[in-house]
Amino acid sequence: MAGNASIPHGRAAYNARTIARGSRQLCLKGSKRLSAPVVTERTAGAVPRMDSTVSGERRQRVFSGIQPSGNFHIGNYLGAIRNWVTQQALYENMFCIVDLHALSLPTTPDALRRNTQSLANILLASGLDPQQSIIFIQSDVREHAELCWLLNSVTQFGELRRMTQFKDKGGGQDEGVSAALFVYPVLQAADILLYDTDLVPVGEDQKQHIELTRDAASRFNARYGTTFVLPKPDIKPEGARIMALDDPTVKMSKSAASPNNYIALSDDADTIRRKVRRAVTDSGSDVTAGPDKPALTNLLTIFGLFTSQSISSVEEQYAGKGYGAFKTDLAEVVVDALSPIQQRLAELEANPTAARDVLTAGADRAREQASAKMAHVRERMGLGL
Ligand code: TYM
Repeated sequence: MAGNASIPHGRAAYNARTIARGSRQLCLKGSKRLSAPVVTERTAGAVPRMDSTVSGERRQRVFSGIQPSGNFHIGNYLGAIRNWVTQQALYENMFCIVDLHALSLPTTPDALRRNTQSLANILLASGLDPQQSIIFIQSDVREHAELCWLLNSVTQFGELRRMTQFKDKGGGQDEGVSAALFVYPVLQAADILLYDTDLVPVGEDQKQHIELTRDAASRFNARYGTTFVLPKPDIKPEGARIMALDDPTVKMSKSAASPNNYIALSDDADTIRRKVRRAVTDSGSDVTAGPDKPALTNLLTIFGLFTSQSISSVEEQYAGKGYGAFKTDLAEVVVDALSPIQQRLAELEANPTAARDVLTAGADRAREQASAKMAHVRERMGLGL
């Protein structure tokens, strides 16, 4: 997709740019003065923002991402997408299909393109609204990759080696995995820091990556002057770690070898019923949650989230009824919850340009902000003359 139409960029443009540190102006030589926020930790990029005021106050900025890989499942939905949707009216939102991240594990051009389209449809079908959220593809905004490289210089090898996701996904085969898998969290930090993000709504598995992002940002700020906002993870107490149906000791995963691990958002009603029927249960027969009942805790969590009930009220409802009745109802709860999403998905699949148009417009808006932020970052680091 094309370059930055509305903001001057490239060497000549940012050479001519004077950033009035601590003042209220950002001046472009020979061009009009843009009003910009004071450079503080909060608003460090001197970037004109989206129109986002609520009673004169800027709304908090949310950024989150999802990889276009594997089978999108109810864990992605309950741990992340659903929260993005329900909160989108409260914040200034950016949601990103992180295709560059998906290159860290083996894939093919066809699979990547297919997954990107299918994920875009899923996000829209789940209720992300382009009027309220910028939705875009990461590789359409080149600044993500550039900032990743720059942040590599303030990230330590030891920090990256300690990332549990690297250990999990690398499967202990450090020598053979891609270098991209190793620096993956730095690209994630770039995604977040590029947009002065305040909140990052994610599932529990991403917490360590957000901590690394904060550490990299702090180190950068200490070395070059306050430039990046320190983001906070937004991890909900329930649903942040939906476990596999066939093994409640591991999380539900897009890349699981067995489809019985997850319920895909695209699974039809019979498949959902079969998967729930086969879901592992704990010993005993009481439908109760607890540390000694990881399988039932997980199933009750899913039931509670899809029906907006607390786990204890679901427990009460099924007191003395046994696993069979509970599972039968759980399957119907999931079928009912996914059915409207699947109907919208079918419509979007029949019209693939709908999602593409949203993504193109989203990338244009994201690029405008990213390009201005990067001009500031380059200047801070002493890049170019
Ligand atoms: P990804 O694509 O693996 O997952 C997308 C989101 O789904 C959440 N999630 C889960 N939540 C609950 N239970 C589960 N079993 C479960 N599995 C996945 C994830 O926590 C995530 O919120 N590195 C990220 C993508 C990323 C990103 C970013 C996220 C790239 N840049 C910047 C936030 C901000 C990832 O691989 O997510």
